[in-house]
Amino acid sequence: MYAQMVKTARVGVKPRDEMTEQERAFQDRVDANEKIEPKDWMPDDYRRTLIRQIGQHAHSEVVGQLPEGNWITRAPTLERKAILLAKVQDEAGRGLYLYSAAETLGVSRDELIELLHQGRMKYSSIFNYPTLTWADVGAIGWLVDGAAIMNQVHLQRTSYGPYARAMVRICKEESFHQRQGYDIMMKMAFGTPEQKAMAQDALNRFWYPSLMMFGPPDQDSVHTAQSMAWKIKVATNDELRQKFVDQTVPQIEYLGLTCPDPDIRLNEETGHYDFTPPDWSEFFAVLKGNGPCNKDRMKARITAWEDGAWVREGMLAHARKKAAATAAAE
Ligand code: 3HC
Repeated sequence: MYAQMVKTARVGVKPRDEMTEQERAFQDRVDANEKIEPKDWMPDDYRRTLIRQIGQHAHSEVVGQLPEGNWITRAPTLERKAILLAKVQDEAGRGLYLYSAAETLGVSRDELIELLHQGRMKYSSIFNYPTLTWADVGAIGWLVDGAAIMNQVHLQRTSYGPYARAMVRICKEESFHQRQGYDIMMKMAFGTPEQKAMAQDALNRFWYPSLMMFGPPDQDSVHTAQSMAWKIKVATNDELRQKFVDQTVPQIEYLGLTCPDPDIRLNEETGHYDFTPPDWSEFFAVLKGNGPCNKDRMKARITAWEDGAWVREGMLAHARKKAAATAAAE
């Protein structure tokens, strides 16, 4: 069902005088900050936008396990290994309940996964970058989860009830993830000169990809205007990116590291940091599948899906047997 809808999303906000009576009533509920629930009437484009965004978010959690999972066997201590394992398990769990939130909109998890595997749905651009050293695991927790939480805190107020509620738990987990990343960075940055150099190198490589996570600049964002009107998004890509920069620069200073943007400056008039924007051509190349790890990530996901087929089939067979036994006993 969703497959047919994927390419037909409307761009721009529908003017009120072009809305049907039902659409106007819906918009009034959104404007009054009422939560929209699965059985409520909603415009097709609202449903479609949510399936796209929640589906992409779920895929990001699942694919996001790969760069860190790569380091579980090589974590430097037993304690770090246990923490990383717990974090990666959190991400698997969130994937599952975000897929469940998407299912309340009438799409199945299998369909979303098939679209991901066919390259017809996206996942966050950030997970197409490699994790070359242990410091990268710290940088992911600090910067990537820091960027994710900046976005997700706002999504707790999103208009769709199941998505907003899922975000409450996700944000609690994400703040733990962010702190464990910063803790790794502190150990590295205050460690030996070699460790500090690794921390700096990780910051250099993850800074711009983290800024890209917030999506294209507002003027190039296809969905922001309508998503803001429907309160699917409650802040724009640029607003969240700015907040992230403002929060992160003092953290870089505390670590004694150097921001890879030589022109970053606190603007006394605005109270915000002015910064050099990312190279957007790199972002769009990554979205098209041409990032450093896109092919590896998809290959790993498809292999995991195919290798796990026997588990799914076994569980379905067991459920059928149980249902048949219950029916026979009645
Ligand atoms: N990576 C991949 N695709 C992206 C992207 C990114 N960082 N940013 C934007 N895009 C895509 C959009 O999906 C859209 O593609 P489409 O029209 O073909 O579907 C296109 O680029 C245009 O961007 P828009 O700004 O118009 O898109 P949105 O309005 O959807 O805004 C968003 C993008 C801010 C990422 C929004 O979708 C959002 O808030 N999503 C929910 C949060 C999310 O997905 N987070 C994933 C982060 S990682 C994570 O949570 C895992 C954690 O454990 C680290």
